[in-house]
Amino acid sequence: MFALRWGSKHEVVLASTMGESVTWHLACVVCEATYPGLEMRYRCDCSGTLDVVHDLSHCTLTREKLDARLASKTPLDRSGVWRFRELILPLGEEVLEAIAVTRGEGSTHLYEASTLGARVGVANLWLKHEGENPTGSFKDRGMTAAITLAKHLGMGAVACASTGNTSASMASYAARAGMDAIVFIPEGEIAFGKLSQSLAYGAKTIQIEGDFDDAMELVQKVCDSEGIYLVNSINPFRIEGQKAIGFEIMQDLDWQVPDWIVLPGGNLGNNTAIAKGLVELHQLGIIQRLPRLAVVQAAGANPLYTAWTSGEDVVPVKADTIASAIKIGSPVSWRKSMRGIEALNGVVTEVTDDQIMDAKAMVDAAGIGAEPASCATVAGIKRLVEEGTIKPHEKVVGILTGHLLKDPDVVVNYHTEGIEGIESRYANAPISSSAEIDEIRKIIRS
Ligand code: F0G
Repeated sequence: MFALRWGSKHEVVLASTMGESVTWHLACVVCEATYPGLEMRYRCDCSGTLDVVHDLSHCTLTREKLDARLASKTPLDRSGVWRFRELILPLGEEVLEAIAVTRGEGSTHLYEASTLGARVGVANLWLKHEGENPTGSFKDRGMTAAITLAKHLGMGAVACASTGNTSASMASYAARAGMDAIVFIPEGEIAFGKLSQSLAYGAKTIQIEGDFDDAMELVQKVCDSEGIYLVNSINPFRIEGQKAIGFEIMQDLDWQVPDWIVLPGGNLGNNTAIAKGLVELHQLGIIQRLPRLAVVQAAGANPLYTAWTSGEDVVPVKADTIASAIKIGSPVSWRKSMRGIEALNGVVTEVTDDQIMDAKAMVDAAGIGAEPASCATVAGIKRLVEEGTIKPHEKVVGILTGHLLKDPDVVVNYHTEGIEGIESRYANAPISSSAEIDEIRKIIRS
């Protein structure tokens, strides 16, 4: 559908707006117009979204170099994003050592999950837990890149619209960088764990009457008129940081490529990023082949799934799902997302809220735990196995995008009084008891 242009061989060292030379440029996903690498823009003049196109011809990264960095003690090497810096934001060692705003993000655990896998039909299941990032979601990987660039550009304030995790991450990284942070969230729609982070880290938190899609539209206008740096995933440098999830999965597996990578899709930045990064890694010869990619949407917030199955463009929908992180009806990155899915011979599927909560109960009870949107991954794997798309013998890596404690209300409600429309099949309600030892014994033995 869209030509793959990242990593193309032509010369891409362009003078930036700051008079420096950088080894990347920006290119429009729709009309292919190009812009200098550090020009402050998120969209092309034609309104298409932008890619960072790296000049890979001078990139000397190898598996050996990357593996050696695992034993290093420098902050850049210890970060699971900056370890891959040549493919993230190649400003050079000296500049990055001086300015990188890092909390040691990434280096998350890849759990062997064959017992859980047996319950969903694949024995060789692995779960990459991005909830183990500093603020509890994968957003920290994109945020360290975006805030570092904001610092390089001399920005004093950053903003985002969010379903909660982007804002938590931005608030933290902006505070570390000494920048003002302005958050736009849909009132009453984001989980308390996430709202509390935004408040605690000191972001100006504006709850708007409207949904995420309204907030997203608003924040773009505000950033344009007020000269504030926008760090939603429409910012192509957020995508660059998030590519490191795919890099790290490959390194975790000793560069042996799995058959599938499966993840949830909301605003569609993350699947865009992982596909882009893996294509680049393949072009460099660091991996020998590409995995397939499966993007899982909630059935109540499924514009990509509808577009994928119909072969049409994305048509915005009014989103509704218990997985508030992916309650998004008008995803900004859908074109890039489709391109990446095609490049990785991928698929898009959808799962109901009931399936998401069943999967969540299983992920939680396996001792791993994740927030609802993350568990769409496991529900999606189950569906794709049942349909015969994923074969039972294939090696599957599912990405859990956010921590269990991001949304404690949904957990407690599931296990206690129940949630309308959800069957609490695996409920584990607390048991009330007097403080009498006999009664306690009875409960334990029952
Ligand atoms: N999982 C979680 C936990 C998320 O927070 C998000 C997105 C996604 C999956 C979907 O990723 O948007 O790249 O397709 N959360 C955003 C936010 C929208 O504002 O925190 P995506």
